[in-house]
Amino acid sequence: MAERSFPPGLTSLPLVVAAAALAHVAWGLPTNLRISLAVNLGLSVLGYMATSSIVATLGPTFVKANLRGIDLNKETTKRDANGVLVRPIEGIPIPESQGTVTAAVYILVLSVFIPFAFASYELDRFPHAEMAEYLAAVLTITFASFMGFADDVIDLRWRYKIPIPFLATLPLLSVYYANGNHTGVMVPNQLRWLFGDFVELGFGFYLFLLWLAVFSTHAINIYAGVNGLEVGQSVVIAASVLVLNIVQLFRIPEEFKEYRESHVQSIFLMVPFLAVSLSLLRLNWFPAKVFVGDTYCYFAGMTFAVVSIVGHFSKTMVLFLIPQLLNFLYSCPQLFPFIGIPCPRHRMPNFNASDGTVCNSFAEFNPDDLKPLGKLIFVVLKSLRLVRVCSGPDGKVQMSNLTLINFVLYVFGPCREDVLCCRLLAIQVLSSLLCFSLRFGLASYLFDVVLWCSPLPERCSPDVIWKRCPMLWAEWLWICRPEVCCKILWAQFIGKFFFK
Ligand code: UD1
Ligand code: MG
Repeated sequence: MAERSFPPGLTSLPLVVAAAALAHVAWGLPTNLRISLAVNLGLSVLGYMATSSIVATLGPTFVKANLRGIDLNKETTKRDANGVLVRPIEGIPIPESQGTVTAAVYILVLSVFIPFAFASYELDRFPHAEMAEYLAAVLTITFASFMGFADDVIDLRWRYKIPIPFLATLPLLSVYYANGNHTGVMVPNQLRWLFGDFVELGFGFYLFLLWLAVFSTHAINIYAGVNGLEVGQSVVIAASVLVLNIVQLFRIPEEFKEYRESHVQSIFLMVPFLAVSLSLLRLNWFPAKVFVGDTYCYFAGMTFAVVSIVGHFSKTMVLFLIPQLLNFLYSCPQLFPFIGIPCPRHRMPNFNASDGTVCNSFAEFNPDDLKPLGKLIFVVLKSLRLVRVCSGPDGKVQMSNLTLINFVLYVFGPCREDVLCCRLLAIQVLSSLLCFSLRFGLASYLFDVVLWCSPLPERCSPDVIWKRCPMLWAEWLWICRPEVCCKILWAQFIGKFFFK
C-alpha cells in the first residue's frame, strides 16, 4: 500500500489560526487571565510534542503487552479466495489504545496548569468555586478515560458501560449545583405569552446533563472503524468549541464577567485537548500507524460533555454532535436487543481487495425471524431506501449495517478509506456550520438577548431584509459580524417562505 503522509496543513494551520485568534481575544482579558492563557498555550504545545514522542516510543511496549489491533481494511490482512477475512484474524499488529497516552498527557497538562490558573489570586478573593469546578472536571474526564482503558483491556459489558459515565459525572454536577445551579432556559419571544421569559427546568436539566454525559461518552466509539475518524471528528468538534468560545468572548460585554469567564475556562480545557488530539491524529491518519482505542473515544466524549457543562453551552454542544446523534438514532435497531436486528461484532466498512476501496458491510438475517418491531423497522428502512438490501440464500437478506459510515458509502459509493474519512469529517464541519448559523442567526429571532452587546439595526428585521435583498448581501462585507451574516442568511430563508 502506498504510504500517504498526513497533510501537515491539517495540524499546523488550525494551530496557527487558533493561536492568532486566542492572542486577539487575550488582549481584552484581565492580566491574570492573559498570563494563564499564555501558559495554557505553552503547555499545550508541550503536550503536543510529548504525545507524539511517547506514542512513537511506547508503541512496541503496547504491542508486547497485547494492546494491539489488526487493521481489518488493509491488503496485508489475510483474506480467503472470496475476499472474506480469515479467522482468527491474521495481519500486521499495530499498537492499540493509544488514547491512554493522549489522556494521560492531557490530564498531566491540566494538573501542571492548576497553579498557573489560580496562583495569581489573593487568598481573600480566591475563586474557590471555579477551582472546585476545574478539579471536578479533571476527575470526571480521568474516570471516563479509566473506563475506556478497562474496555480496551477486558471488553466491558454494556450493563456497566451505561451507569459508569452517569456516576462519574455526579461530582461535576454537584459542583455545578453549588456554583449557582443554573437550570433555567430562556423562552423564545414567540412563546413568552404562554410560558413567560424563563422556564426553570430544575431536576430535568440535571437529567439532560447526565444524558449528555452518557451519550457523548459512547457516541464517538460507535461512530468509528475508519482510520482517522475517531480523532478527526473530535478535532473538528474541539475546534468548533474553541471558535464558539472566541466568538462569545468578542460578543459578551465586560459587565457579564461570569459568562466571559466560563468561556475562558472552556478554552483552558479545549486548547490542550486539541493539541494532544492533533498529535494523535497524525499517527492515526490513513494508513494508521496506531489505533486510538476505546480509551480515546470515552476520553474525548466525556471531555466534550464536561466542557459544555463548565462553559454553560450544553445545548449548543448537542448541535455540534448532530452526526453522532444521527449515527446513534440510525444505529438503535442494532444496538437494542429488544428491537432485534442482528448486530455483528464489527460494523465498520468492508474492504474490497481488488481495487483497494472500502464498501458497505452487512448484517445477514431472515426477515421472518425478526421480532415484530424489528420487522416493522426493517420494512420502513427498506421502503424509504435508507439501507442497501441484497437478497441472500434461503430467504435470508443482507442489510447494510446501520451506521452513518455505511449510509455515506451507500449514498456516495465505495471509495478509498481516507476519502471516506474526509467525507465524514466534511459532514462534521457542515454540522458545526449549521450549529453556528442556528446559534448566532436563527436564535436572534427567537431570543432578544442573544445579541447581548448590540441589538441589530432596524434594517435587519426579516421582512425589511427580504424586501431589500439582494442589495443587503453587499452590506455583509462591511458589517463583518458573524451573527449579522447568519441572521441575514436566515432572513433570506425565512423571507422566501413567509414574506413573499
Ligand atoms: C465499535 C463499533 C463497531 C466498530 C468498532 C470499530 C458499535 C456498537 N461498535 O466497537 O461496530 O467496528 O467500534 O472501532 O458500533 N479497527 C480497524 N480500523 C480502524 C479502527 C479500528 O480495523 O480504523 C479495528 C481494529 O481491529 C481494532 C478494532 O477495530 O483493534 C477496535 O475495535 P473496538 O474499539 O474494540 O470496537 P468497539 O468499540 O467494541
Ligand atoms: Mg472502540
